[in-house]
Amino acid sequence: GAPKSIRIVEVGPRDGLQNEMTIVPTDVKIDFINRLSRTGLQTIEVTSFVSPKWVPQMADNAEVFKGIEKRAGVDYPVLTPNLKGFEAALEVRVKEVAVFGAASESFSQKNVNCSVAESVKRFQSVTDAARKANIKVRGYVSTIIGCPYEGKIKPSAVAKVTELLLNQGCYEISLGDTIGVGTPGTMREMLKEVLKVAPVEKFAVHCHDTYGQALPNILTSLDFGINVVDSSVSGLGGCPYARGASGNAATEDVVYMLDGLGVNTGINLEELVNVGKYICEKINRQSESKVNRAMRRS
Ligand code: HMG
Ligand code: MG
Repeated sequence: GAPKSIRIVEVGPRDGLQNEMTIVPTDVKIDFINRLSRTGLQTIEVTSFVSPKWVPQMADNAEVFKGIEKRAGVDYPVLTPNLKGFEAALEVRVKEVAVFGAASESFSQKNVNCSVAESVKRFQSVTDAARKANIKVRGYVSTIIGCPYEGKIKPSAVAKVTELLLNQGCYEISLGDTIGVGTPGTMREMLKEVLKVAPVEKFAVHCHDTYGQALPNILTSLDFGINVVDSSVSGLGGCPYARGASGNAATEDVVYMLDGLGVNTGINLEELVNVGKYICEKINRQSESKVNRAMRRS
């Protein structure tokens, strides 16, 4: 059965906004994150220290990180693909970073401009530097079920990259269904394989909702005992290097489901719905969260 409590990693400010073509003003990003901080969330992924040529939306990474309130008890990780990004993050006193690898060679090339093996080498320099600086490192493995360029991905390829990242000292691996093609069946096959290389406490799931399977996939993962779930308020998100991928599981929907299961998240759903409404108005989008829409109608 499902765990008693779940930690949600809110990725809206990063995964959500990185996919927006129009640049969101820095003060809106800061306000958005501050509002999220007051909902009871324990982890909010703030931004990415990636190349501004590749992802212009994240060019204000340092300003955003410096500008947000750091609430006690809330972690504010950022993405760092290489040592350059890590050093820039360290300069603004980030306390947790994430490296992001993939189970697919072609996706790795498109996303970080190098092979899986080369990316892992770059992550090693990040994890080494992080250890010296006492910074926690989370690891992502993308394309865990399918790749936009290669199609189906073998569970063994996911397990292999997972093991490499854990050996480097990542405290947790977030398993990313980047293009949201997974179903409870394929998730189960993949989870069985990765759980051979590490215990369930080491994993989080990161499900995009392209095919409407994010909630069932999350529920399947909970049944395996996974108790960390990435999601994005109002279902914002996608990856610029995975065409056709839509947003993440909406945090409002995940919290509603968990509330119904009696699983504690510590998050106030009404406040979260208001933050979803706020950001959707700012970026001129409809909320992709059914719960958000339903709660605002009633
Ligand atoms: P590259 O061009 O191969 O890097 O990019 P390089 O080392 O050859 O450097 C080229 C230029 O970039 C140089 O500048 C560097 O200084 C600069 P120039 O001399 O041309 O002026 N540069 C940087 N600038 C700022 N910050 C840095 C940095 N590194 C180099 N950290 C790189 C390699 C990884 C940087 C590039 O490919 C990149 O930025 N990619 C962006 C990837 C990205 O943000 N993807 C989206 C996030 S991942 C995701 O969404 C999936 C996830 O949600 C899970 C899931 O859903 O599955 C996590
Ligand atoms: Mg993602």
